[in-house]
Amino acid sequence: MSDKKVQIAPSILSADFGRLNEDIKTIEPYVDLIHVDVMDGHFVPNLTCGAPVVAWIKSELPLDVHLMIENPEKYLEDFARAGSAMITVHSEACDDLSGTIDKIHELGCKAGVSIKPKTPVSDIDSVLEKLDLVLVMSVEPGFGGQGFMSESIPKIKELREKRPEMDISVDGGINAETGKLVKDAGANILVAGSYIFRAKDRQAAIESLR
Ligand code: DX5
Ligand code: ZN
Repeated sequence: MSDKKVQIAPSILSADFGRLNEDIKTIEPYVDLIHVDVMDGHFVPNLTCGAPVVAWIKSELPLDVHLMIENPEKYLEDFARAGSAMITVHSEACDDLSGTIDKIHELGCKAGVSIKPKTPVSDIDSVLEKLDLVLVMSVEPGFGGQGFMSESIPKIKELREKRPEMDISVDGGINAETGKLVKDAGANILVAGSYIFRAKDRQAAIESLR
């Protein structure tokens, strides 16, 4: 368990992109961040949206942009200009992870690094001190609605021991039950897509994660 306040970040991957801003309004009063999943069809076998879609989002909440793309350094400026508060890149997608983090900071955004289920925490040890956020994937990235992988739990504990004050976010298969497991392990940001957007009562689903 972390001392940090739990924050809820709905993933708009499970929202209706045809009425995105209306869908965001239904959850906005109850959450802390808006999580945007950007996929390029190369790093993951799925395509979503680019920076223009991020710029169309009308919300006062910080945009937590999760780049599941190759060569993310090429697009950082576009996503920063589009209004991202936090930009998270995948360690597996970066040749120069440290330089990419510095660039995100220079653009005035918080910097995060995400690790896939099979990537050990030790792979990002060298940059951990300068990160604002680590996003632990608890499914293989690419699609919403998958089952939670419990291999993420020891990784969250390891990260919380190494960086007691850093934000630790968990993404994939989060619901009330798995949300409790990751909070107990030390996560303080819960990303949830299908659990929130497919719920009949979205507010109740969100409150069940806190
Ligand atoms: C998966 C994305 C997640 C996903 C979560 O690659 O990064 O944000 O949308 O969806 P659920 O909560 O449905 O697993
Ligand atoms: Zn995500």
